[in-house]
Amino acid sequence: MGGNVILLSILALNFFANIAFAFDPSPLQDLCVADLTSSARINGYACVDPAKVEADNFFFSGLRLAGNTSNPKGSAFQVAYVNEIPGLNTQGMGMARVDMVENGFIPPHNQARATEIFTLLEGSVEIGFVTSYPDYRHYSKVLEKGDVFVIPIGFVHYVRNVGAGNVVSLSTFNSQNPGTTFFPHVLFGANPGLDTDYLSRVLALDKKIIGKF
Ligand SMILES: *[C@@H]1O[C@H](CO)[C@@H](O)[C@H](O)[C@H]1NC(C)=O
Repeated sequence: MGGNVILLSILALNFFANIAFAFDPSPLQDLCVADLTSSARINGYACVDPAKVEADNFFFSGLRLAGNTSNPKGSAFQVAYVNEIPGLNTQGMGMARVDMVENGFIPPHNQARATEIFTLLEGSVEIGFVTSYPDYRHYSKVLEKGDVFVIPIGFVHYVRNVGAGNVVSLSTFNSQNPGTTFFPHVLFGANPGLDTDYLSRVLALDKKIIGKF
């Protein structure tokens, strides 16, 4: 009986320890405002001198206004991560604002280091994610103003405006630097670029079409 309790405790500890290690590390002190000028990297940013911390280190006005949606996607993606808010360093959180015009969309992407809670503030969207090999299950919902949808960590997901009018949304992430990767950029925007012949075979597309991206 006692042995079982100990075994269960060890299993439980192991479970929670694994969860803790899957996300940003917890702070070890009151304040560790990022020193964005320091070249020291400690799995995050080094801290500025606490005596020099000010309220502005925790403040960001960059999400007040809609981003520039005059592009072929009809969307803008503006982030509030540790680079924008140095006070987020070691806090394990980040935010992003998305704006979309009618028919606008955000291409498929993932956040390698964060779970996302997407909150729709204006308009109507379809949002969805696809699970990993071998099932590739596609889960999607149409959201109305005020609705939220969770994107589990790492999964490829997308959002598209399915309403009449503009979309505004706010997403929160449990990482100060979620590691967003847009899949069209991986395929067509890598530096140096991926081999065109390889891409044409991977996507079953003519090389001339590949070259147009
Ligand atoms: C928005 O982006 C377009 C395309 O890049 C550009 O021509 C335009 O000047 C931008 N508008 C503003 C207000 O920055």
